[in-house]
Amino acid sequence: VKILGLYGSPRQGGNSDLLLDKVLEGAASAGAEVDRVYARRLEMEGCRECGGCDETGQCVVDDEMEAVYPLLAAAEVVFLAGPIFFYSLPAQVKAVIDRSQALWNRRRLGLNGPGRSGRGFLIAVGATRGRNLFQGAELTAKYFFDALDMAYGGGLLLRGLEAKGDVLARTEALERAFELGRTAAQGRDPRPFLEGDREHA
Ligand SMILES: Cc1cc2nc3c(=O)[nH]c(=O)nc-3n(C[C@H](O)[C@H](O)[C@H](O)COP(=O)(O)O)c2cc1C
Repeated sequence: VKILGLYGSPRQGGNSDLLLDKVLEGAASAGAEVDRVYARRLEMEGCRECGGCDETGQCVVDDEMEAVYPLLAAAEVVFLAGPIFFYSLPAQVKAVIDRSQALWNRRRLGLNGPGRSGRGFLIAVGATRGRNLFQGAELTAKYFFDALDMAYGGGLLLRGLEAKGDVLARTEALERAFELGRTAAQGRDPRPFLEGDREHA
């Protein structure tokens, strides 16, 4: 199984990085072929909304996103990870998401061949504990995966994490992250995990 981990945080070694590391460790333990993309390292622009991909499914902008398109197209499972920034995802990874409009057009134009059976998962962390904390990011993730012709498989969504490394105290969450990677790599449906909901249901 080809798996892509998309690291969405600008903070190296932060909470979502650590969780995605665990997820990909789990995936590798099940024999998956794992690629990693760090949005913070990409020299790239956001979408220009120029319409250049409308009839071709090919983006006209020549930058480091070019290397990411084939990884997104080939992956059977995508893990999108990041912190909540203002109820959404950080600008760096949102640029990658917006540029996937070319892949949405590829799908719309029927250039992908038959539909994919792939799945996408969201790994998100936020500092606060509000009920609606992940709504924006989950909708964005769902439609990003839709552009990739993938179904949204659910999320590992953790509240109350702020300082770098806070997640290391959440043993259960780290175990669930490993498990998410392992089960997704085996083509099984992982259980969704919304830790904060227990306190706020
Ligand atoms: C610019 C910015 C915006 C943020 N917005 C929110 C927010 O809307 N809600 C929230 O709960 N936490 C917010 N946070 C806190 C981060 O989500 C939190 O610290 C998270 O654990 C960082 O994850 P990381 O270590 O993977 O980057 C924000 C942090 C920054 C720097």
